[in-house]
Amino acid sequence: AAEEIHRASTHAPVNIAVIKYWGKRDPKLNLPTNGSISVTLSQDDLRSHTTASCAPSFTGDSLTLNGQAEDISGARTQACLRELRQLRREVEAQDSHAPKLADMKLKIVSENNFPTAAGLASSAAGFAALVRAIAFLYQLPTSPTDLSRIARQGSGSACRSLQGGYVAWNKGEKDDGSDSVAYEVAPASHWPDMRALILVASSDKKDVGSTAGMQQTVASSTLFQHRANEVVPKRMHAMEKAIHDRDFEAFAALSTKDSNNFHACCLDTDPPIFYLNDTSRAAIRLCEMINSRHDRSVCAYTFDAGPNAVVYYLANDEEAVAGYFKALVGDKPGWEGKRGQAIQAAQKSV
Ligand code: PMV
Repeated sequence: AAEEIHRASTHAPVNIAVIKYWGKRDPKLNLPTNGSISVTLSQDDLRSHTTASCAPSFTGDSLTLNGQAEDISGARTQACLRELRQLRREVEAQDSHAPKLADMKLKIVSENNFPTAAGLASSAAGFAALVRAIAFLYQLPTSPTDLSRIARQGSGSACRSLQGGYVAWNKGEKDDGSDSVAYEVAPASHWPDMRALILVASSDKKDVGSTAGMQQTVASSTLFQHRANEVVPKRMHAMEKAIHDRDFEAFAALSTKDSNNFHACCLDTDPPIFYLNDTSRAAIRLCEMINSRHDRSVCAYTFDAGPNAVVYYLANDEEAVAGYFKALVGDKPGWEGKRGQAIQAAQKSV
């Protein structure tokens, strides 16, 4: 008889932080030095789709991403697999009829509907989908909050991709990370006219990866101490309020200031880290120009550990924002294109 293959699938979207996670107080557990808040993009736009399967005949754990075999021996991925298997063993211990899935090897197949090389935060969606696919496969009784505790160990920002809408990651106080989890600030339906436009300023691999960049910042930036201890805690409250009140003026001021504060900390490290390039700065100037012409905050820019801009705006201001950016982009929309070309744009609803 053909052997039974156990299988489950799920998808998770990319999230883009508006209050940034930058700094680990525990690099092993991915415990952050400060809280963060993000907007999860819609499933139709940028997302990872992942299928996890297991069967007695599988000979080793494996992960395929967009058709290519990936190395899963890294400590982060291993931590996620270990935690999930541990939870499955608890299920099996309580139910003698439950198939012994935890002992079988896992085959994980993941597809991103956006180019992984585009320099967009793909690890967040990737780890969130991986963790949830295995949790489904193992039939674990887990909430997004519980799963966020596991996904966080894969990639910190992944803990915020298990829920839609507006999500915060609580820094937590405990050393074991049990309270360093994500929670929903508001569902997407609370503020449905939020839009995001993503400018792929460069699809090069980043100069300094987030783990190394964070480590360097924590070790050598004095500005960072101020950011983590004074600036971000206040902004966390203010951003939650801005989201609850659907106050775009406050949302925009907080997100752009937080992005600039994070990049200022990167510049304050030894040696300095430059994530933004000339195209990034052109995007910042364009946002500032649009806002000043309208005499209000129409658009809010933010940058992760790379030069690509994410510009948030409200649907009513589509023409004011996307119109200008399209003019900047010219006739080269989309993801593809040679490096060093004009800015490429892709519009994304969130
Ligand atoms: O989750 P990581 O280790 O890829 O770090 C993400 C860091 C930023 O994207 C710059 C900020 C954030 O909160 O997502």
